[in-house]
Amino acid sequence: MFSKKPIEQLLKEQESKNGNTLKRSLGPIHLVALGIGAIVGAGIFSLTGIVASENAGPAVILSFVLAAVACSFCALCYAEYASMIPVAGSAYTYTYATLGEFMAWIIGWDLVLEYALASATVAVSWSSYATKLLAQFHINLPPELTASPFDTVKLADGSLLHGGVINLPAVCIVALLSLVLAKGTKESSGLNTLLVVVKISVIILFIALGWSFINPSHYSPFLPENTGEFGHFGWSGVIRGAAVVFFGFIGFDAVSTAAQEAKNPQKDMAIGIIGSLAVATVLYVVFAYVMTGLVPYTAFKDDASPVATAFAVTGYSFLNSALIIAILAGYTSVILVMLMGQSRVFYSMSKDGLLPSFFSDIHPKFKTPWKTNMFFLVFVGLLAGFVPIADLGHMVSIGTLFAFSLVALGVIILRYKRPDIPRPFKVPAVPFVPLLGIAVCVFLMIGLPVESWIRLLIWMLIGIGFYFLYGLKKSKLSKYHRK
Ligand code: ALA
Repeated sequence: MFSKKPIEQLLKEQESKNGNTLKRSLGPIHLVALGIGAIVGAGIFSLTGIVASENAGPAVILSFVLAAVACSFCALCYAEYASMIPVAGSAYTYTYATLGEFMAWIIGWDLVLEYALASATVAVSWSSYATKLLAQFHINLPPELTASPFDTVKLADGSLLHGGVINLPAVCIVALLSLVLAKGTKESSGLNTLLVVVKISVIILFIALGWSFINPSHYSPFLPENTGEFGHFGWSGVIRGAAVVFFGFIGFDAVSTAAQEAKNPQKDMAIGIIGSLAVATVLYVVFAYVMTGLVPYTAFKDDASPVATAFAVTGYSFLNSALIIAILAGYTSVILVMLMGQSRVFYSMSKDGLLPSFFSDIHPKFKTPWKTNMFFLVFVGLLAGFVPIADLGHMVSIGTLFAFSLVALGVIILRYKRPDIPRPFKVPAVPFVPLLGIAVCVFLMIGLPVESWIRLLIWMLIGIGFYFLYGLKKSKLSKYHRK
């Protein structure tokens, strides 16, 4: 349970050329695009409005800065690890080398909450925008096919439909992207790059067109006075806002799951991880500045499409369809990269024997873990189609924060235990930077609702059960030790 996988063994394994390995096809630009693909999505397009109207007013800009600083501590840790141990398993593999098999399993299992659940959550949001876009072209899907059995849908005549049949558009996008992923990493990364170009272009267009319509009076008060309740405006609102917009930065770590497919991981991993986080931060801050400058922050209250509300004052409303397309492109790339990350983590866990070998079978021609892609097509498809997961965003955050803290802890441990391993990228001021990373993650986790903690615990107990029934017996490392 506590045996650690030697780093030399990890490095040897990823270099083995036995045909059942992933193909190295990604350069630095692909990796930065992969990061931006996974990062820029629901966070910028919907959370900006929510946090401005409920927590921080125009100071949502500060919430973004705070969350970015918090993420940057962890991003540096990921960069050190990913360039030192460039394997597909990301946090799971790093933990295997530092804290041992049991903790590694916990993290691998926990990452399902980040990658699979985030893809399902974003697929459900994707579905509502896709339905909106189709309606603009007079294609109206039956409402029963756009909602899970537990959702309530508002019909065209204003009445409410309690419970749909299936969220079909959400299932379709998950299925389509899983098939692209099974077809090839190069193809998936090509599609991702295209989606990133579309979403970034429209975000820049929004900023450029909106800039001259900014009304400086909307920035005062910049930080509305606290209402007396923690998290409702004032500085506590900025902090609560940072915990919420943290979701918007999730994804830079997904770059590290592509380490085994990078042409030159020692150099390019750090560029991919830190570069994508930096680009996203600049975009978020400027975007939030323009959004809150266009209309008073109170205009975003209970608004399902805050970006359109802000953009309406520019008079360029005919560009609303372009905005929806950018949002769809953004969400699509998030789902794509998250699904990809998920399959790579399971690939690594299966290679180590902790999951059945089915998950690490590589397609002889496409060189992708295609069976895992198909498994998650079904798993995430079922979640997206039948579960009302809008409120599970918190689960994604808690799962991710947990993984981030263990990665930061691992960096410190490895610095002391194995100072000899070459580190192409080094976190500055160890142990302070990783410790700050852990502190921030724990702080943000404490701010999440109790239900998320309970759900995290239940998910982990299921995982621990599986480990004792399967992984512990089948683990290749423990078999090796038993010999
Ligand atoms: N960061 C991703 C998003 O905002 C998960 O959609």
